[in-house]
Formats: sequence, C-alpha cells, structure tokens
Amino acid sequence: MRYASITDRLANLGSEKWAIHAEARRMKAEGEDVIELTIGEPDVPPDPALLAEAVRSMHAGRYRYSNGRGEPSVVDALVRKYRKRRSDVTVANVLCFPGTQTALFAVMLGLVEAGDAVLVGDPLYATYEGVIRATGAERIAVPLRPENGFHMKAADLEAAITPACRVLLLNTPHNPTGAVLSAAEVAEIGAVCRRHDLWIVCDEVYEELVFGATFASPFDNPDLAERTIVVSSISKSHAAPGFRSGWAIGPAEFCTRLLSVSETMLFGGQPFIADMTAYALDNPISTAATMRQSYKARAARFADALSRAPGLVPLPPEAGMFIVVDVSETGMSGEDFAWALLREERVAVMPGSSFGEEAEGFIRLSLTVPDAHIDEACRRITALATRSTMPKERRA
Ligand SMILES: Cc1ncc(COP(=O)(O)O)c(C=O)c1O
Repeated sequence: MRYASITDRLANLGSEKWAIHAEARRMKAEGEDVIELTIGEPDVPPDPALLAEAVRSMHAGRYRYSNGRGEPSVVDALVRKYRKRRSDVTVANVLCFPGTQTALFAVMLGLVEAGDAVLVGDPLYATYEGVIRATGAERIAVPLRPENGFHMKAADLEAAITPACRVLLLNTPHNPTGAVLSAAEVAEIGAVCRRHDLWIVCDEVYEELVFGATFASPFDNPDLAERTIVVSSISKSHAAPGFRSGWAIGPAEFCTRLLSVSETMLFGGQPFIADMTAYALDNPISTAATMRQSYKARAARFADALSRAPGLVPLPPEAGMFIVVDVSETGMSGEDFAWALLREERVAVMPGSSFGEEAEGFIRLSLTVPDAHIDEACRRITALATRSTMPKERRA
C-alpha cells in the first residue's frame, strides 16, 4: 500500500530517541533495580482543587461539544494571564489546544511548508524536529554553546539565516539545558527577527519553573507583537500533563487563520478541562513554587556530587526539571556513556544526542526523583566515570 511522505519524514524520530528509556522500563519490569532519570514528569500531584473543579464541572454537564477557539471560561482566564504581560491582549489573540505539543504542531502547520526553513537552537527539545519536518519545512540549527550557558546569541542566529527561513522556534526556559534567555538577549534576537521578517514561536512551557534567572520573552515586547506566538500549557506549571491543556497566543490575524486548522484537527476541546484550566490560571496554587524549590535544590545536589567525579562537568540549569552533564572528558560520547550507565550501573539517563548534534558529549538527568535516589544515582554515575575516564597522559 502507498503512504503519504509525512510517515517517512517522521519515521525514526520518535521511539529511537527514547530507546534507553524503553530499555530501562523493560529492565525494571523484570525486577532490576534501575534508577530512572530519563523523562521529566512532575513528581508532585496537581493541586486537589484542580481535580475537584474538573469533577464539579463534569457533573454540571460540561461535557458537550466546545468550539475551535476554546471555552470562554479558559479563553478569558488566558486573556487575564497574558494581559499582565502585554496590555493589548484580547480574546482574538487566544487559541486553546490539547497541550503545548499540539499547539506547536498546529502553529507550525500554519506558518511553514515545503521549501521553507525553521531556525531552532541546538540542543533542542526532542519533538521539535518532527514538528518542523511534518510541515515539509527544513530545520536549520542555531548552535547553543555551553560556553554561553546554552543561551542563543543573536550573532549565531544571524549567521544561520538563509532566504528560506520563515520562523525562529525559540524555547525559553529551555529543555534540555535549563537556559533562560535574559531580556537583553531576547531584545537582540528580536531585532534580528525583525530585520529578516521572521516569525518567533516561543515555547514557554517552563515559564513557572524558573529558579536561577529572570524570565523574559519576545511576547512582552510590543515591537515584536506582530510576529510572536507563545505556546504553553498547564502540564509543567500545575503538574498536570495528562489533562492535555495548552494554548497558543498570537496576533489576531494569525489566530483567525489558524482557527480553521484547529477546528479541522480537533473540533474543540473538553469543557470540563477548560473550566479546570481556568481555575488553575485564576487561583493562587502553590504547585509551581514547590517544584521550583525542589528542582533548584536537586540540581545543586547533583552538581555538587558530580563535579567531584572524574571526567564529569555538570552544567547547572536556571530553570526546568533537568540538569545536563558534560561527559566528554571521560573519553565517551553521551550516547555510549548513557548505555554503559544503564547496563553496568542501572541508571537510566537521556543521551545528549536525543537533543541534537551540539549535545552529543552530554547526558541529561531528570530532577524529578527524591534525594535518596539522587545520592545513589550520583554514586553509580561516579563509579562509571571513574572506571572510564582515561588517564590524562593517554588523552590526545
Ligand atoms: C520544551 C517542551 N515543550 C513542550 C512540551 C510538551 O508539553 P505539553 O505537555 O504541554 O504538550 C515539553 C514536555 O516535556 C517540553 O519539554
């Protein structure tokens, strides 16, 4: 049978990146003592008030068809949220989606196609490549350099631009590196995008999990309003990834055009999830603060222990739920180190190569485990690093 080319373009983009995670799960199912530091799922439950609101809403009959833009309850709550950042935001700037991921997919579909190119930092979040390729567009990497704390630099962006470029896909706070762009960096990046007439799609799903910097976004700059689209969700901020509740906030004309894409894809969302999301956005809920505090402390705990291990250089994050560690001094690639760590020490981490070429010498560790697991994981990681780090005199 014949298939559309999208199935080829996306083939091997999903499961291969997660091979270590899948193998770790298999080993655990067989009873092996594996410490899992692969995926970043909040390790706290959502606030009980959110669950109560979803249940209340369902019992109130809020399970009928919705509409393409989103239920007024959540659209209005989003207007209130984003008006705190830019006073011109109205209902016309809001579109709801089931999660940031779907929002990204739809937004890209609305902006680019075959023959176009999308600029994106490298390292990059694992699904970005697929989101870009699905449209037929090409991905152009902007190197995020460890010596710059993985912050995108305007000069590196400018150097990567080709005539085919239509969009900069920005991610701040950044996964996997935890980098948070400063207001000055955002302004310089924004100036480049204006000069080259680029859209800026800004994935801000970790906005609430900043603990070592000050959050800044191109969305907050009125000069960039006509070209900036924010995508985000309650997955991380409210520890509620399974509810699949997210959004895109962008220029009114963009939202009008994308509405038909969204209606065709989704035919609306679930009203009871919309009500729960509105409740989450409108009420003071401590989940994000709790996570900020524990992820900051856990990142420091990892960094402290691993900086004493031979061949390892931890790079503490400014936000998010991960820490990356440079393993290149061990003489191994991130991929080889991660597989050896699983097979020999029963610790599962993500190899940097799952996040692009610039991250090949790195591993990424999740901060969503208790201190006792972190301490034992550090002991095991140190054991592998000690065994594998080549003596200095044998290094090239
Ligand atoms: C950078 C980034 N964007 C998007 C997502 C997906 O978020 P959502 O659950 O809102 O689809 C994730 C999830 O890990 C992420 O790390």
